[in-house]
Amino acid sequence: MLVTMKELLIKAEKENFAIGAFSVGNMEMVMGVLRAAEELNTPVILQIAEKRLGSSPLELMAPMMVSAAKNANVQVAVHLDHGLTLDCIKKALAHGFTSVMLDCSLKPLNENIEITKEVVKLAREYGTTVEAELGVVGGNEGDSEEHIITCTDPETAKHFCKKTGIDALAVAIGNAHGNYPVLPQLRFDVLEEIHNLTDIPLVLHGGTGITAEMFRRAISLGIRKINIATASFDALTASAKEYLSDGENYFTLSEKMIQGVYHNVTKHINIFNNKEI
Ligand code: 13P
Repeated sequence: MLVTMKELLIKAEKENFAIGAFSVGNMEMVMGVLRAAEELNTPVILQIAEKRLGSSPLELMAPMMVSAAKNANVQVAVHLDHGLTLDCIKKALAHGFTSVMLDCSLKPLNENIEITKEVVKLAREYGTTVEAELGVVGGNEGDSEEHIITCTDPETAKHFCKKTGIDALAVAIGNAHGNYPVLPQLRFDVLEEIHNLTDIPLVLHGGTGITAEMFRRAISLGIRKINIATASFDALTASAKEYLSDGENYFTLSEKMIQGVYHNVTKHINIFNNKEI
């Protein structure tokens, strides 16, 4: 069932867990995510970043993601991750995405506020959820070359949320996109302060490589959406590679790709559900 991301964030807040937001780039990834979510009877977010649309075009991905969500046996939100342009936000909204993010985190604060306000206004016309980011999360979505991080300032976060009216805030607390060269030292003190000052669901980007213990602590401090991209892409590739070492049937290969993603998503959902298993 297709739902807004906001509905899922409210549920996560009430039940003290985090929704997994899994990046997808093809049909096998979409199927792997939903197989895991349905099996665990847990809502999920299917997302794609604007940067990935070169290899996975929006005109093809969007109808597939929205249709997969509508046909799923669990609640699914479809989210544009790290939008770079208003044009792309508009296209995602027109395709029926139920959540959008315009990433202006590298722009000056006032500019970030003004553009984000515009996105909120636009998204409200569609009843869609809006995520924004403050501070600098290391790396690029899906890449790992760069790990320069600036933590979100809690007072600025409070001001930003009040001014913009966003539904979810992505924080920078030492997290980074891509595979971490060493285990990150997440600044839980900063997260706690942001959580205390803002009355809003918080988002953790750069989920790949973060330990179960750290995820649980982050959830206890207000993280309600966790993004996983690299781990799924890597799991698909590893599963395909293993099969291709002595197999060569396309249809089996496709199933192996689904399974790679499914196992990764299952592992993460079990942690994010925050239940003893
Ligand atoms: P990872 O690639 O580190 O899992 O980060 C995902 C992400 O935050 C997408 O926005």
